[in-house]
Amino acid sequence: MERESSGKSSMIPDHPEEGDRKERVGKITRNFFLHIHATRVHLYSMKPTYTFGLGIILGFLFLIMVFTGVILMIYYTPSVETAYQSVKDIVYIVPGGRIIRNMHRWASQGMVIVVFMHLLRVFYTGSYLGNRSLNWVIGVVMLILILLSNFSGYLLPWDQLAYWAVTIGSNIAASARELTDLLGITSVIDPGGFLKKLLIGGETVGQPALSRFFTLHVIFLPLSMLVLMGVHFWRIRKDGGLSRPLRYAGDKGGTNKWYAWPVLMWTELAILILVVTGVLLIALLADAPLLEKANPSFPENPAKSPWYFLGIQELVSYSAFAGGLLVPLLYLGFLFSIPYKDREDKYVGEWFSGKKGLKLVLRSAGFALVLVIIQLFIMVRFGGLRDWIPGVSQWFVLLINPATFTALLFFVVAEVTRKKMKSTRMAALVLFTCSFVALVVFTVVGIWFRGPNWEFFWSASQWPIQ
Ligand code: HEM
Repeated sequence: MERESSGKSSMIPDHPEEGDRKERVGKITRNFFLHIHATRVHLYSMKPTYTFGLGIILGFLFLIMVFTGVILMIYYTPSVETAYQSVKDIVYIVPGGRIIRNMHRWASQGMVIVVFMHLLRVFYTGSYLGNRSLNWVIGVVMLILILLSNFSGYLLPWDQLAYWAVTIGSNIAASARELTDLLGITSVIDPGGFLKKLLIGGETVGQPALSRFFTLHVIFLPLSMLVLMGVHFWRIRKDGGLSRPLRYAGDKGGTNKWYAWPVLMWTELAILILVVTGVLLIALLADAPLLEKANPSFPENPAKSPWYFLGIQELVSYSAFAGGLLVPLLYLGFLFSIPYKDREDKYVGEWFSGKKGLKLVLRSAGFALVLVIIQLFIMVRFGGLRDWIPGVSQWFVLLINPATFTALLFFVVAEVTRKKMKSTRMAALVLFTCSFVALVVFTVVGIWFRGPNWEFFWSASQWPIQ
């Protein structure tokens, strides 16, 4: 698409005749929905390998969620007595119900995957730099909302999978208790218990939990997301369109701009059709799981949280407080603070901030991969601190474990990089890459290599018969 790249930009501009120009501008400005776009966009934003259309795909997946969710709500009843049967009716009796449920389920999983991909693309192109910091923060909040939406929806079928996954999730919420127990203050101040109660309305998952999750899932979270998405899109326009390298920063007016109508609009329509077709095909090929009705006196073993929290569950198996609260909060704090710590906007719009950055990213990924695998090997083969020193104080277990050790080491490596390279952007690349790779490895281990009693197995076929 680019003719040359020496210094001043000279991309192929789109120069229609005056009449045609007015028509094309009018198409956008007269239409409420299309008006979400500026009438002209920079050609750099149209490069498929810049955004991969991930933000748009997310928006369309959200639309599918809302559309299928509203249909599901016609038949679903949020009561512990009837919820399971109503989902069974949707699957086996309501015409088209199975497909709608499958689409809802797979689109929601798709959102989790795509939102992380979008996060990676925005981070690695330095698109949080400059005045885009607020939009990055809004994005992180939306990421949390997507995870909560998924989690709250998980309970609704009220089957064994849902019940025990949410039970585990709610125990993770109570992980501050490890610390308050150690301090001996749980009877006085119990933030873990409070959080758990807030989430599920009691000590165990029951009707209060189902009612709360239902309200969160169908009203509070979708509405919050809708509002934030509106602000997110509005900010993109306010920030002057998508990010682009500094050499194009001065491009204004007609030069180097393309009219959003018709090319961008047709491209987005094509993406919509592809997304809907993709979700529909997956929904036709694979059914959303539905086990037996929830039975509170018959725990699943292993009881696993939803897959996107399995990385955290793996960390919790080392220390509830460090893995369930401390490290995830530090990670979130890091995500929120990135644009305020790193202000080197010379890297904006450049994938990996150039060759130097790419090298650093690859090295960091390799380092994190090896480090986490070695730690896992040690934990599985030789056990943790408690196995080595049986009488060791719980304080040591809380402070010295793979969750805290990994986080600390990544931070130190990032700090050394910052000092050595005199660049916060390079340090951010290191810390972000290391923690993301670690999260992926912990999640993979949680999904595929943990079996009954959270023991390590190479495959589910090795699980003992229960
Ligand atoms: C429901 C979730 C989200 C939706 C629907 C959404 C949608 C979009 C869309 C359509 C764009 C423009 C096209 C593109 O970049 O692909 C965009 C850009 C952006 N998004 Fe998101 N996004 C979401 C979540 C996030 C998250 C989790 C982050 C990061 C924490 C984020 C940060 C940004 C930023 C900073 C931009 C501007 C990028 C630039 O100027 O190049 N978004 N988003």
